[in-house]
Amino acid sequence: MDLPKSEKPKYLAPDVAVSAVLAPSQELPAETPTVCGYDWENGTDYNKILESYERSGFQATSFGKAVTEINKMLKCRSVPLSDENRDPYEEDVFIKKTTNCTIFLGYTSNMISSGLRDTIRFLVKNKLVDCIVTTAGGVEEDFIKCLAPTYIGDFNLSGKVLRTRGINRIGNLLVPNDNYCLFEEWVTPLLNEMVDEQIQEGTIWTPSRIIARLGERINNESSVCYWAWKNNIPIFSPALTDGSLGDMMYFHSYNKPGLVIDILGDLRRLNTMAVKANNTGVIILGGGVIKHHICNANLMRNGADFAVYVNTASEFDGSDSGARPDEAVSWGKIKSNATPIKLYADATLVFPLLVAQTFAKYHFGNKKNV
Ligand SMILES: NC(=O)c1ccc[n+]([C@@H]2O[C@H](COP(=O)([O-])OP(=O)(O)OC[C@H]3O[C@@H](n4cnc5c(N)ncnc54)[C@H](O)[C@@H]3O)[C@@H](O)[C@H]2O)c1
Repeated sequence: MDLPKSEKPKYLAPDVAVSAVLAPSQELPAETPTVCGYDWENGTDYNKILESYERSGFQATSFGKAVTEINKMLKCRSVPLSDENRDPYEEDVFIKKTTNCTIFLGYTSNMISSGLRDTIRFLVKNKLVDCIVTTAGGVEEDFIKCLAPTYIGDFNLSGKVLRTRGINRIGNLLVPNDNYCLFEEWVTPLLNEMVDEQIQEGTIWTPSRIIARLGERINNESSVCYWAWKNNIPIFSPALTDGSLGDMMYFHSYNKPGLVIDILGDLRRLNTMAVKANNTGVIILGGGVIKHHICNANLMRNGADFAVYVNTASEFDGSDSGARPDEAVSWGKIKSNATPIKLYADATLVFPLLVAQTFAKYHFGNKKNV
């Protein structure tokens, strides 16, 4: 109710301060959501807790928006391919289009060292993503875990003491050095085979072909690479030698020299997938090579249609790792009419929850909730 002028309160404080502090607001658009958290009177309902995030603010809101963005990818992906869109002349089964929205999943090596490997395997086993980009550790740690376990340790364990005990630390995870010795025993005969095939049959080995071969040979259902091979989902890793696999290749090059790895062949394969796709969605966990490699492939189609980044990096240093999606829009790597979202968080905390609210609901048949 508007009081007559004479009845308005009179402030004794200086006018300048009063008008600064009590400046009137303009109306916000009617559809602007209000802040509201979870109502604990509902009991512990994890689905409702996660649904409440979008109106909670800060990174909880980004989480809610990331759920919406991934669900948009899945909705688009569920549209059947028309006959003319089926790509009948593509002979490479790893790049042949199978869905209306090609989903590129990228993750840094440490994600596979962590329990996120099991969430990623769920996606790959059930053909919920179409293309993977990771770094060398993201490949070898998947195989090494089939040979021997990784342990929970502590961020504060002394490097000096661990070194004397032959234990390697990845954050608060521990990997005994023996695991890498087992890996060497397993992988060396396979590298021998690859050299023989290269010489005798003229096979041109690219990182993705090497990973598919290793995935086939590990023959272990706990492995991401095994399911990727089985389901014809390519795993690209342009810097495949920067990890234990590179160490093994280095040793191997003394015993049986000659293995040549063609990274350009894989670039053709990856970029072709992006160019041919009807629509693309990118989900990138972490930064560095994996983030840029996926975004750059999407430049070849003038931008991804959907994008979710999950990472802890900031943009103030100008790093590509920290760049927000808007920087990729400026390069044509994400479409300018897309609604990309960056979630600032440790992926080990949030990615299983993101999958629970999107891929898992979709996969387990709750499609109308997506
Ligand atoms: N287990 C390992 O981490 C491991 C093992 C062997 C080799 N390597 C090699 O180390 C090199 C560098 O590794 P990289 O390129 O995979 O990534 P990285 O570990 O250097 O991470 C790159 C960026 O991703 C973001 N990030 C990393 N972990 C995150 C998390 N949990 N949640 C959110 N954001 C996160 C951070 O911003 C980080 O700066 C690679 O060549 C890799 O092969 C790593």
